[in-house]
Amino acid sequence: LVLVVDYGAQYAQLIARRVREARVYSEIVPHTTPVADILARKPKAIILSGGPQSVYAPGAPQVDPALFEAGVPAFGICYGFQAMARSLGGEVAHTGAREYGRTRVDVTAPGTLLADLPAEHTVWMSHGDSVTAAPEGFDVLAATATTPVAAFENVARGQAGVQWHPEVLHTEHGQKVLEHFLLEIAGCQPTWTMLNIIDEQVELIRRQVGDGRALCALSGGVDSAVAAAIVERAIGDRLTCVYVDHGMMRLGETEQVKRDFEAVFSDLDVVDASDQFLDALSGVADPEQKRKIIGREFIRTFEAAEVRVFGDLSEGQAAVAYLVQGTLYPDVVESGGGAGASNIKSHHNVGGLPDDLRFELIEPLRTLFKDEVRAVGEQLGLPPTMVWRQPFPGPGLGIRIIGEITRERLDILRRADAIAREELTAAGLDRDIWQFPVVLLADVRSVGVQGDQRTYGHPIVLRPVTSEDAMTADWARLPWDLVERVSTRITNEVLEVNRVVIDVTSKPPGTIEWE
Ligand code: XMP
Repeated sequence: LVLVVDYGAQYAQLIARRVREARVYSEIVPHTTPVADILARKPKAIILSGGPQSVYAPGAPQVDPALFEAGVPAFGICYGFQAMARSLGGEVAHTGAREYGRTRVDVTAPGTLLADLPAEHTVWMSHGDSVTAAPEGFDVLAATATTPVAAFENVARGQAGVQWHPEVLHTEHGQKVLEHFLLEIAGCQPTWTMLNIIDEQVELIRRQVGDGRALCALSGGVDSAVAAAIVERAIGDRLTCVYVDHGMMRLGETEQVKRDFEAVFSDLDVVDASDQFLDALSGVADPEQKRKIIGREFIRTFEAAEVRVFGDLSEGQAAVAYLVQGTLYPDVVESGGGAGASNIKSHHNVGGLPDDLRFELIEPLRTLFKDEVRAVGEQLGLPPTMVWRQPFPGPGLGIRIIGEITRERLDILRRADAIAREELTAAGLDRDIWQFPVVLLADVRSVGVQGDQRTYGHPIVLRPVTSEDAMTADWARLPWDLVERVSTRITNEVLEVNRVVIDVTSKPPGTIEWE
């Protein structure tokens, strides 16, 4: 285990992923975690992430020097590098020179950390302060035009650091630097694989469930499918899968999911709960309220399924009733369960659960990133249509109608969305685009003209994004001829819509979904 201590940068998750790409398991802990707790987890190494602040800023997260005295190998990145330098007796100065973005670095003495790297290469920087003197016993390995100490190491102590961000793709050879630290300096073994995860989870689930029974909520997406497949491997036919049609799925989706999943899972229960959900949502326009209601109705539906599967569970019998969820690591971190991040949206599978839950949860993907889940899915032999399906939020089209959700509005959005998806597939871009939400601004109307007639219709927003993990995203530069086809077809075929616009906001500051 390698622990990434998060000093408040959006990069901590990226670092954890890169460490795992080096086949070393890693998790993130907030910088507020006491050193004793960090050490109690017996990490093989600790990585200190970058952070938004200057080490000298009032209230800047402080690094407890005890972290460096415990004999655990440590690697500092950006802010973590400066904090490490300062804690160990080096010097950090406001040089006034800032470096942002692509910067050339000169490797002056490669040592172990920068071995085999070109003497000059390009890295990604984002800092105001600079380390001007390395701590005693440390070798300086590299410099930039404005930063005399851009990397250092003390191999005997197992400590090293770099001013740049080795975890971002714009940094050349970044992965190599991380691997040099992990494998050469910290002595980690590259043994973490998808196969291990499956075996480990199967074992854990068998122990957790004993001879109990489990229910799995299949959403149609890759996460719940992979979670269910792991649990099925562990407990076989004591798993029942339930797919709830909440009435906010896309065109033809429920039929598709049914076909695909019946081929994989033996015990599949398809529940049509659309009236129940849509009635409960009637008159509600507030996004958080919608999410809470959807989360609540999901659980109600499962409780009904529970009675069908387990019989009537009385108090104290929860130990035989388990609910499988495809919760991922980013959901856990983003819902405030991880690195002290603030709650941005209530994900219906984490924050939206009511308190009177009668199941015990099984979450075999709780520590995984999306690309890892896909790799596990392939390893389990699930079909590519399931493994490579683009993410679709649990609340479905409900959070893509801005305003109250009604059956008429769902019908409008469904037809527009089907056109956009069809054209994206026809253009062969399904795997290049992370997600392609289509949003209906249901309370907005604008004037248009069609066949000499004045129209007063709704706008549709296209929100194609590229992303690696949904934590950050960029708007996708779709080919204009594709955008044109989508726009023409939607305004011709969906008469309630007379305007198509495209969302060109990255995340942050926008989120992927509009609600
Ligand atoms: P945002 O809008 O926060 O979305 O940038 C990030 C990713 O999460 C998906 N999403 C959800 N998935 N339940 C889910 O299962 C939810 O409540 C939920 N809300 C957002 C979103 O589609 C994107 O992939």
